Amino acid sequence: MSEIAKIQLGDKQYELPIITGSEDEKGIDISKLRALTNHVTLDIGFKNTGATKSAITYLDGENGILQYRGYPIEQLAEQSTFLEVAYLLINGDLPNKKELDYYTESIRHHTLVHEDMSRFFQAFPTGAHPMGILSTMVASLSTFYPESQDPNRAMADVELTITRLLAKLPTLAAMAHKYSLGQPLLYPKNSLNYIDNFLRMMFGLPVEEYEVDPVIADAMNKLLILHADHEQNCSASTVRIVGSSQANLYSSISAGVSALWGPLHGGANQAVIEMLESIRKDGGGMKKWIDKAKDKNDSFRLMGFGHRVYKNFDPRATIIKTACDNVLERLGIDDPILDLAKELEEVALKDQYFIDRKLFPNVDFYSGIIYKALGIPTEMFTVMFAIGRLPGWIAQWKEMVENNDPIGRPRQIYVGATRRDYVPMDKRS
Ligand code: CMC
Repeated sequence: MSEIAKIQLGDKQYELPIITGSEDEKGIDISKLRALTNHVTLDIGFKNTGATKSAITYLDGENGILQYRGYPIEQLAEQSTFLEVAYLLINGDLPNKKELDYYTESIRHHTLVHEDMSRFFQAFPTGAHPMGILSTMVASLSTFYPESQDPNRAMADVELTITRLLAKLPTLAAMAHKYSLGQPLLYPKNSLNYIDNFLRMMFGLPVEEYEVDPVIADAMNKLLILHADHEQNCSASTVRIVGSSQANLYSSISAGVSALWGPLHGGANQAVIEMLESIRKDGGGMKKWIDKAKDKNDSFRLMGFGHRVYKNFDPRATIIKTACDNVLERLGIDDPILDLAKELEEVALKDQYFIDRKLFPNVDFYSGIIYKALGIPTEMFTVMFAIGRLPGWIAQWKEMVENNDPIGRPRQIYVGATRRDYVPMDKRS
């Protein structure tokens, strides 16, 4: 017999079906609740609400498990490439060699961005944040490919938009970086693979050959894979909800970039380094900062700590920590910021406040340290996250479209003023 949940409202009882996921996750299906009872549920921040059924990513926060399409993140980070993972997330299965070769070639073919876009870059003020630039540029892609705005176009045409996004995002990110430095742009070099091409566009100069360091390329590959999807997080939910109105894919992804920018989400990687810099400038004493993080009257939080879903450890952080050590050793970097990070982690993990609330370092605690070691400016950290998260956003959007999900439109409990009559200006106190 299928399981049911019972809800008692006054003297009436209603039965609601229980949905069981493939990993035995349980959810009460309330889709008919309002029609049956005239009640809605209230769950601010969606802490208990499943917004959709999804077959993309499985996350068990209690046990630190993260799987893309069933494959453990540890195996993917160790053995696969970012484009292979992108294919997996977007199409549902690992590609065979022929499929991956074709996929890689198609993406290579679209790495250039329209020359007119460089004029947009010139119009941004000096010091413009690259996440603001990135979301603008991604949204503006829809104006260069107006056919993408047709919600009824065939999936084959949508595939072209997906290819263009995967191909052009690294180019746009590198352009934003080069413009901020005042350095000449490097066009993509399509004989290189996805990661090497990006590293060259970021760090190369037209006057000399750029040699890709395999340790750096490997760390970058891992970082992008670890960020590639994270089920119904803030930016993925944003992409799905924007896309549910049939807004085009470029605009939906641009909204995802904006959602990611915030320091409670992807922007935490920038915030971690800024926090550590502040601690260092302040003399390095940890106690004051730990106390501030615990003080409910102080808005300061330990950036890079805590997670909505992980309540034991963040498996991405565990993998990144090792990659971080490798990169720092390979590059011979002895950074006082890293020493501070290690000290802060040690102090916080022993502190009862953090133990009680199950607050552990998350992926952003270490990713910022690697990016810093790679010479990526702090303001570009969240852009790196966005490049990694792109396949996840696309997969979430595609699933939403293919499942024919209805427009996302939550209800509310209204707590404002009840009906009252308009008061003319001369009668107002
Ligand atoms: N420092 C100090 N206290 C914290 C922190 C922190 N970083 N995170 C949570 N808490 C406390 C919070 O004050 C609350 O305490 P109390 O129960 O006494 O009121 C308790 O822990 C639960 O926190 P919450 O805000 O209800 O948890 P949440 O699930 O709404 O928020 C979070 C999750 C990630 C937004 C939050 O932990 C946070 O702000 N962390 C710092 C920002 C950060 O590192 N974000 C990156 C997340 S990982 C990358 C990604 O996937 O986006």
